[in-house]
Amino acid sequence: MTAPLPLPGRSRPAPPRAEGKLLTSSSYVEDPAPSHGSSAPRSAFRSDAPALGLGGSWRFLLSPSAEAAPDGIERDDYDDKGWDDIPVPGHWQLAGHGSPAYTNVRYPFPVNPPHVPSDNPTGDYRLSFDLPDEWPDEPAVLRFDGIDSCGRVWLNGTELGVTKGSRLPAEFDVGPLLRPRGNLLAVRVHQWSAASYLEDQDMWWLSGIFRDVTLLARPAGGVRDFTVDAGYDHLTARGTLRLDADSGVRISVPELGVVGLPAGQPAEVADVTPWSAEEPRLYEGEVHTGTERVPVRIGFRTVTVEDGQLRVNGRRIVFRGVNRHEFHPDSGRVVPREFAVADVELMKRHNVNAVRTSHYPPDPAFLDLCDTYGLWVIDECDLETHGFSELDWQGNPSDDPRWADAYLDRMRRMVERDKNHPSVVLWSLGNEAGTGRNLAAAAEWTHRRDPTRPLHYEGDADCAYTDVHSRMYASHEVVDRIGRGVEGPERIRELPFILCEFGHAMGNGPGGLLEYRELFERHPRCQGGFVWEWIDHGLARQDAEGRAYFAYGGDFDEPLHDGNFVIDGIVHPDRTPSPALAEFAKVFEPVRITGADGALRVTNHYDILSSAHLDFSWVLEQEGTEVARGTLTVPPLAAGDSTDLPLPVLPATGAESWLTVRAALAADTAWAKAGHVVAWGQTPVTAAPALPAPAAGAAPDMTESALRLGPGVFDPLTGQLTALGGLPVEGPRLDLWRAPTDNDRGSENPDERSWRAAGLHRLQHRLVGTELLGDALVVRTRVAPPGLGFGMRADYHWSADQQRLRLRLEVEPEGTWPCTLPRLGVRMTVPAALGRAEWFGRGPGEAYADSRQAARIGRFTSTVDALQTPYVFPQENGNRIDLRWLRLTSADGAGLRVDGEPAFAFTARRWTSEHLAAAAHTTDLEPGDTIVLNLDLAQNGLGSASCGPGVLPQYRLHPDSATLTLTFTPEATP
Ligand code: GAL
Repeated sequence: MTAPLPLPGRSRPAPPRAEGKLLTSSSYVEDPAPSHGSSAPRSAFRSDAPALGLGGSWRFLLSPSAEAAPDGIERDDYDDKGWDDIPVPGHWQLAGHGSPAYTNVRYPFPVNPPHVPSDNPTGDYRLSFDLPDEWPDEPAVLRFDGIDSCGRVWLNGTELGVTKGSRLPAEFDVGPLLRPRGNLLAVRVHQWSAASYLEDQDMWWLSGIFRDVTLLARPAGGVRDFTVDAGYDHLTARGTLRLDADSGVRISVPELGVVGLPAGQPAEVADVTPWSAEEPRLYEGEVHTGTERVPVRIGFRTVTVEDGQLRVNGRRIVFRGVNRHEFHPDSGRVVPREFAVADVELMKRHNVNAVRTSHYPPDPAFLDLCDTYGLWVIDECDLETHGFSELDWQGNPSDDPRWADAYLDRMRRMVERDKNHPSVVLWSLGNEAGTGRNLAAAAEWTHRRDPTRPLHYEGDADCAYTDVHSRMYASHEVVDRIGRGVEGPERIRELPFILCEFGHAMGNGPGGLLEYRELFERHPRCQGGFVWEWIDHGLARQDAEGRAYFAYGGDFDEPLHDGNFVIDGIVHPDRTPSPALAEFAKVFEPVRITGADGALRVTNHYDILSSAHLDFSWVLEQEGTEVARGTLTVPPLAAGDSTDLPLPVLPATGAESWLTVRAALAADTAWAKAGHVVAWGQTPVTAAPALPAPAAGAAPDMTESALRLGPGVFDPLTGQLTALGGLPVEGPRLDLWRAPTDNDRGSENPDERSWRAAGLHRLQHRLVGTELLGDALVVRTRVAPPGLGFGMRADYHWSADQQRLRLRLEVEPEGTWPCTLPRLGVRMTVPAALGRAEWFGRGPGEAYADSRQAARIGRFTSTVDALQTPYVFPQENGNRIDLRWLRLTSADGAGLRVDGEPAFAFTARRWTSEHLAAAAHTTDLEPGDTIVLNLDLAQNGLGSASCGPGVLPQYRLHPDSATLTLTFTPEATP
């Protein structure tokens, strides 16, 4: 696996030779052995030695198989004129060669390890480059940060070796081969290799040289590799610093008075500020020899498992984390730096404090950002063999000795590359690779190599060789049992527990985050988790009319695919936050502000930080309109502490009024400006006054063609409202249906299936009769599915005065209902011109019964178009809850007002739920001639059943008798 190191000095060692097999054919492709010809893995660093980035435009040829690829591409005289240009780094499928394919668990080829299809797309790359004039005449390495999946490399006609391990670096010694001018680098990349069996992560299959390629001069007598061990003793506030490296290498950290500390010699440093995700204090230093200087950033911290808890610097930490795949909608797993920065900033602004690098080490630059900005990281190895689960794990490489070296090699390359990042607090062996000897051996090596970090692997259910108990998608109930220590074998009951995946953010959802937080707070060993996942992997595409949309599995005609299961992020593909991110930010806010009995309680939920960096302020709003504001003095609270404060002195208010208290950054940080709100809470200060007298007193006026009641006009035959003060409308009619969400469609006990079986998507409305009862019009109906016996009585009681029309809808289930209801409310259409919404209720974003923490009481405005959440796979969305009133108006301000008694929820869209349900992409949603307005008593919760538990019992909407009371008031132009 390793080649000898270049000798110091200017002598030229013999050209490096690839070890192992004769590479005259492509037999290496199906060899389970790891890379060869590459040099020993080492830390990723950049020193003051010259470096030459080789990214840019390369020559490229795609052949349908390894055998069909041309001979001699490594030769100077090979003619590549007929080839194309391709950007490196990049994936060839996103550069017009072949197409992407998505599968989750299944391998897209026959499972016959280590064999791969003969139709094995093979990309040949060529680059000719000159050395800069000042390039030194000394050893050099050629570094590839990522080639998917297998690359054979030549420089100037000499073969350097083969690299596998797509998301892992490989370096080749090349010094003696370099020429000042006209170097020729040739790389043959195979889409499939034996290594593909180890890389079955749930993501697009995308190939090519997709991370940086760099030529690095390696000065004689320079720094080959180093490990900085920077521990922190929280009892003494002292740091220990130790450099492990070849003798002669030293470390200096001027700020700490450390000058030229030799490798191998520990030093104690008094009064260091430790590194944490909450306060990422880094000390700048240098690792140096006489010929090379490497800038380093040191974070002092000690990670331990003690008393069943994972602790950093003696403190229990809670992961409020996300799983992050590397993704960009245009470039796939090539994530330009500004997008990695955008990810980290978005995370920090939404109270995310941890990242699991699912399921491979990220671009090394991402870990630098985690160090700088402060994120706890589980660095996960590039390993997943999930497709073997389809075969009952028969033949799983994890327990097959032929793959032993590959497992060790992968772990080794990750650990050596990333060991100097303080942000990395846990190593992870990989994901969903079953169990077996090779994992156990990799674990053993890792424990020996780096005793400073505990080891994670969810697949080791008994923690036979890992240090933390981890599960994915465990229900609240199971997490509670784990927290109470009544679940699983003895060993795991004594270990910290994390949810390496939870809250599956596919489409609209997840619901139930709040209840997970409560468990993390209740049980000290339950130390948080990582939402699945950060970003939707939707690839940017245009339809025939040039309209942009995001593609998912099946959109590239893949014969085998898993559809939109790749669209399960908490941010959309273009990194606009999905409503779930706002919910996450609110649920996991580090400070909690609550109000009760005329007092405020502020609790610090940081793991480490005091609240001293926050400014508190308040705003008093009457019916959503600000009437007063001020600052609030909150004494700095240590992590875990809380305080009770009296309410500020507030002016008297008449209408319903709420006090909102916000905690905002007092000073700029790397990730947000001063004033950024990290937490907020609301408390009511003036209850809503008694509701205005109900609309009544206008007498019905019946003609042959119409029945008039106040501002309402009804069809006398059907009892349907047809106009409201001159506005043509249709409905309102009872509506129980919603366009199913991915979570409704979920795997276990799916709601959608039971709803469709109960015919809720095709209900029929039968008019039982209309009658005039005094001044009220009563329209009695029975709403029921075809072919089934149960149904719902729905009686509409209409009354009015001259300006207002009031509906009291009474529903009463009949017979035995077999399922929950998607929603309970009414649907109507209003003119398309009423495209502006204003409401007093919860907002500004969408909210559902079990995902509503981010929605605050206030007065909000939006266009109907902006109310829609453009989930990549269209589904129910955009619901606003707890409305006291809603106004829908046209540009001139005229329109319709709806008041609830007391509250209701609404969605308004330019298409029906049926259209929404039928759409496969956002471009399938064509605006109709009207706005479809749903006014609801309730909707079923969201849950997380697309992968995980369904809707918690308290958020399920069961058929029951209910009353929805709404008052409609047409409004003229103001
Ligand atoms: C997990 C897996 C993830 C992803 C998720 C579902 O089992 O670890 O990679 O597939 O399910 O989206």
